[in-house]
Amino acid sequence: SAGEVADTFGFGAYVVGGFVRDMFLCRSNEDVDIVVEGSGIAFAREFARIHNARVHTYEKFGTAVVILPDGFKIDVVTARMEYYRFPADLPTVEMSSIKLDLYRRDFTINTLAIRLNADRFGILIDFFAAQKDIKEKAIRILHNLSFVEDPTRVFRAIRFEQRFGFTIGKLTSGLIRNAVKMDFFKKLSGRRTFNELRHIFEEENPTPAIERMHDYDLLRIIHPDLRPDRKLIANFMAVKKVLAWHDLLFLDEAYLRWVVYFMVLIRQFDRETTRQICEKFAMSPRHQVIFCKDRFLADRCLFYLGRNIPLKNSILYRELSAFRAELLLYMMAVTRSRAIKKGISQYFTHLRHITTSVKGRDLKAMGIEPGPVYREILDAILDARLNGKLRSRDDEINFVR
Ligand code: CTP
Repeated sequence: SAGEVADTFGFGAYVVGGFVRDMFLCRSNEDVDIVVEGSGIAFAREFARIHNARVHTYEKFGTAVVILPDGFKIDVVTARMEYYRFPADLPTVEMSSIKLDLYRRDFTINTLAIRLNADRFGILIDFFAAQKDIKEKAIRILHNLSFVEDPTRVFRAIRFEQRFGFTIGKLTSGLIRNAVKMDFFKKLSGRRTFNELRHIFEEENPTPAIERMHDYDLLRIIHPDLRPDRKLIANFMAVKKVLAWHDLLFLDEAYLRWVVYFMVLIRQFDRETTRQICEKFAMSPRHQVIFCKDRFLADRCLFYLGRNIPLKNSILYRELSAFRAELLLYMMAVTRSRAIKKGISQYFTHLRHITTSVKGRDLKAMGIEPGPVYREILDAILDARLNGKLRSRDDEINFVR
């Protein structure tokens, strides 16, 4: 029906980009991008009206997001009509606006489009040999100035290459080396650079991407001393395992994957260097606290736990309850001690949910004068409970008596 809406306005409309690419790769993709030749905003409003959907429009960019009642999201962009100056001032060639829109994109594999209008509905449009590159498993830019236009594409090239098991093409690879040599990144803001890096650490397996970044001498963007040595790689693989364990058991508990990987990545650096890295990437204060403070507390906690093996449940509870999931996962990944790892997983699956059944009001009913002693009594009950000495409410009441 998107095609029908476009037809009523006389606009061309196409599904483009990642969604079509992933169809060819037999991968699922939840994001649909539609390019409209005309007004993307008018199209999105009408489409949303018909489907009872919410719509957010960004007039300045001619873009809109439509959110259907079931949560499905559609991004709509307007194929820009303005005159396009070709790189190296080649003579201008007439292009339809969809072709121009696709030509501006990062890699050939992202330039497939499917027509939605009734006239030629469903035909696949492949202006830039995307199908060939998908077949050859190659990441290729569309023109030589691609990385000049947008240096963040260097990180995207590596991310797509590793995600799909593709290889960056020869010419593209040379242009990446050139971009690194000429330091195209210096004109990028720290925030934008980091935003792309973050996407790499959100991937299913970021380890090979780190090695690839090292191949291209890109890790120095984070810090000149950063190397994917054996220890770092081992820690990265450990994170992957721990996250898989967590996701299997706690499917619906949200946390930030990239945060865990990034903590491990910059673990070798002291507090001051870490602070400088966070500043350079203009991280939010919330994230700075995690990397500059919590991460160091977590390492100290690991040290403390190491000196208290065998670990009592009450110690695990007391030491770990202050940490958010990302930090606990970090500790599980970097510790070399089986006992600690087991202790943290025990905390995760079990201990953190334990509470006392006796509460303050029960103590009052038992005739105990309210005061700081309540905290002491309740803590003592919780400790005994955690260590398996109390099993029921009656046990707890007798314990107080
Ligand atoms: N794009 C680009 N240059 C960039 C970022 C994006 O040309 N620096 C283009 C890409 O061609 C992409 C489209 O904009 O198809 C949408 O970007 P994004 O949603 O980031 O790409 P996806 O391919 O959907 O990536 P992912 O699968 O990771 O969501």
